[in-house]
Amino acid sequence: MNVKTNHRATVFIGGAVGRWRVDAMQAVAGPALASVSRVAVVGDAEHPCAGAWSLTGVPSYVRYVERREREELRALQAPLARAEATCAALIPIRKSEAWWELTQEARRDIFEARSHHIANSMRFLPGIARQLYHSRDLGEPFDFLTWFEFAPAYRAAFEELVCELRSTEEWTFVTREIDIRLLLE
Ligand code: HEM
Repeated sequence: MNVKTNHRATVFIGGAVGRWRVDAMQAVAGPALASVSRVAVVGDAEHPCAGAWSLTGVPSYVRYVERREREELRALQAPLARAEATCAALIPIRKSEAWWELTQEARRDIFEARSHHIANSMRFLPGIARQLYHSRDLGEPFDFLTWFEFAPAYRAAFEELVCELRSTEEWTFVTREIDIRLLLE
């Protein structure tokens, strides 16, 4: 089966249509994506009309989360599509070959023991809902499509979260990152 037609895949289409209006778009690292006015989020089977770009990812199993962290995450995390969550961020990310050449153990060490990605981000739950999509094995331009939804009251908190993450050792391996902020309107 061609993984590109996997029914679990989610496609983010940047163009002139879609539920989410683009509020801001910034290339944080690496080459930009074409500016668009709206983003549509669809299932892979939906075959919508083409946009300026489209990015596909699949939810996957966790690589780094340990049992205690998984329990904490499950207890705290909020679902997507809450009525009050009218703000979203789509942040596609690619990491360097040096990252992918590390062992799983070395990656976990950088990701959590030294960058505290989970421990420091946990305090933003449940205000910020999240979903991580994996793209690397689909031959996509990004390794991850990260997606967040929150109420307008959490906009400043989200800014603090991304600033913190971008200052970590983990982020020294990020070679391409596009920050796309969206509003449900
Ligand atoms: C809302 C608070 C956040 C929490 C609780 C959180 C939690 C997590 C967890 C638990 C994982 C590990 C998944 C695994 O074990 O495979 C992860 C991975 C990841 N997160 Fe976050 N995160 C948050 C915010 C963010 C933000 C704002 C970004 C982007 C700016 C981000 C980017 C990523 C990326 C790229 C990965 C994949 C890392 C890799 O596999 O190399 N996260 N996050």
